[in-house]
Amino acid sequence: MRKLSFYIFIIFHFPTCLFAQKITFTEHIASIIHQNCTPCHRSGEVGPFSLVTYEDVARRGKFIQKVTEIRYMPPWRADHDFAEFKEVRKLTIGQISLIRLWVQDGMPQGPKIDLILPVFNTGTQLKEIPDLSLKLNKLFRIPTNNKEEYYLFSLPTNLKENKFVKAIEFRAGNKKLVHHSRISVDTTQIMRITDGKSIDDPTIATYGKIKMKEEFWSGWVPGNNPIVYQEGVAKQLSAGSDLLINIHYAPNLLQNEIDSSSVNLYFSKEPINYDLKTFILQEKDITNQPFEIPADTVITFYAKSVELPYEITMLSVQPHMHLLGKSLRSFAITPGGDLIPLIKISNWDFDWQMTYQYKEEQKIPFGSIIYAEVTYDNTTKNPRNSFSPPHKTTSGWNSTQEMFNLIFQYIIK
Ligand code: HEC
Repeated sequence: MRKLSFYIFIIFHFPTCLFAQKITFTEHIASIIHQNCTPCHRSGEVGPFSLVTYEDVARRGKFIQKVTEIRYMPPWRADHDFAEFKEVRKLTIGQISLIRLWVQDGMPQGPKIDLILPVFNTGTQLKEIPDLSLKLNKLFRIPTNNKEEYYLFSLPTNLKENKFVKAIEFRAGNKKLVHHSRISVDTTQIMRITDGKSIDDPTIATYGKIKMKEEFWSGWVPGNNPIVYQEGVAKQLSAGSDLLINIHYAPNLLQNEIDSSSVNLYFSKEPINYDLKTFILQEKDITNQPFEIPADTVITFYAKSVELPYEITMLSVQPHMHLLGKSLRSFAITPGGDLIPLIKISNWDFDWQMTYQYKEEQKIPFGSIIYAEVTYDNTTKNPRNSFSPPHKTTSGWNSTQEMFNLIFQYIIK
């Protein structure tokens, strides 16, 4: 028992023991911040302020201590102990303690001249410069009607030959109002007529009903990383394709809010073996009841795929729900009865819907079934509920309606 309490003492006081000398910004804190925070918290990126210099960080020391202790930052909402993903954003307990002790000690700067500032590219979060950058065709003026708006933009790639895309990065132009976007490939060029139009525009018969070969490719929300596919994997983009971007803008009242969002593409120089495929588990796959969320209820839906007709290698998952979302869990069951964990989010956060890429090749055998359990909270206890008192909510694109999508990307080997 005594031995145990000794170890407990060591664990909790480890950083204190190690740094009986001073913890300083230059020597201990800068590298934690530069690695885990600065990719987003620098000029031109999504973070609302820069965290680069000593002054930037010291000015918000207490706030940084708080957001790291409650693990609000760096943002990562999937449970760490269910499925394993790559490029996990997570501080270790040791790093969190170091920040706390440094703040409590008055945030000493340390030797100024030893500070190495990180080097980043502008216009991308990645280390390489994109092979192709596509911008909205013209500056888009965001409507001032204080309503949620969905607009379509068609971006011609003008590619003369087929390409293999190994990484894609969506860059929100108006960081305040671009709420999320959905990128598809239009190989028919039919959707060019929709460029710059609202999805409610009468000239667009009904988006989705137009006969085109639209292929969902990628979704983006603030804070989503650029997506770099696993070695040997790419998305094939055929010559002459257009990107069709559906951007959701938050309600706006201000004049002169403009958007010039863009997409960066990185091509593989070598031919690629595996073409990326998408599979979406969604409302229609729910088995226990219709997708309706009565007022004043917390309700769980169970969804189920068909038996997989072949073995697949799962690369990533991106869950999507709106403001009533509470939690979700998804897994596959193999014909032999084994459970393969795919993702678990205990506290759904509408503001941080990311694409999670699996750490190891996640093989799902032929004949397996993919399951999901998704829970919505349509009570007054949910602070994000758009209605008070709560309303019965059904499926739809607006954030006052609800959705359920689990977007899986996979390859067949
Ligand atoms: C993936 C991009 C990203 C990373 C990485 C990131 N942040 Fe943020 N951070 C944001 C965005 C976007 C916001 C504003 C939206 C929000 O609060 O969720 C934000 C907000 C904050 C806030 C204000 C929170 C509030 O309630 O207003 C603090 C403080 C902060 N970040 C600190 C950090 C620290 C410290 C780190 C590293 C340990 C970090 N962030 C890593 C993108 C990021």
